[in-house]
Amino acid sequence: MKKKYFSILILGVLALTLSLVNSCATSSSLASNRSGAQLWGENCLRCHNSPSPETFSDTQWDAIVLHMQVRANLTSNEAKKIVEFLKTAN
Ligand code: HEC
Repeated sequence: MKKKYFSILILGVLALTLSLVNSCATSSSLASNRSGAQLWGENCLRCHNSPSPETFSDTQWDAIVLHMQVRANLTSNEAKKIVEFLKTAN
């Protein structure tokens, strides 16, 4: 009898672990589907009003986003998309 409860417990823990791993996978794939404009809106307005894309030249945006990538804790993929968005809006 005890053994049965134990294996049910193990199964439960396994199922929980699997669902947690799965939910992580889902959320990170969602994040990478975001467009540069979305990422910019979600990240760059958190700490300050972001200057509009026309404010700076392409080269200036390269330097700025490199700097802000560290502040905003962005992945390099996210930063790349934001830079692309800021450059196309010029
Ligand atoms: C965690 C807070 C934070 C986030 C998120 C953040 N910034 Fe900043 N930003 C700052 C701070 C603080 C400064 C002041 C200058 C410095 O850090 O050297 C700044 C300065 C700037 C400046 C210079 C403003 C000027 O007039 O010279 C620009 C442009 C800028 N950020 C753009 C962005 C962009 C684009 C993003 C998104 C990728 C972003 N920031 C995300 C905190 C943040």
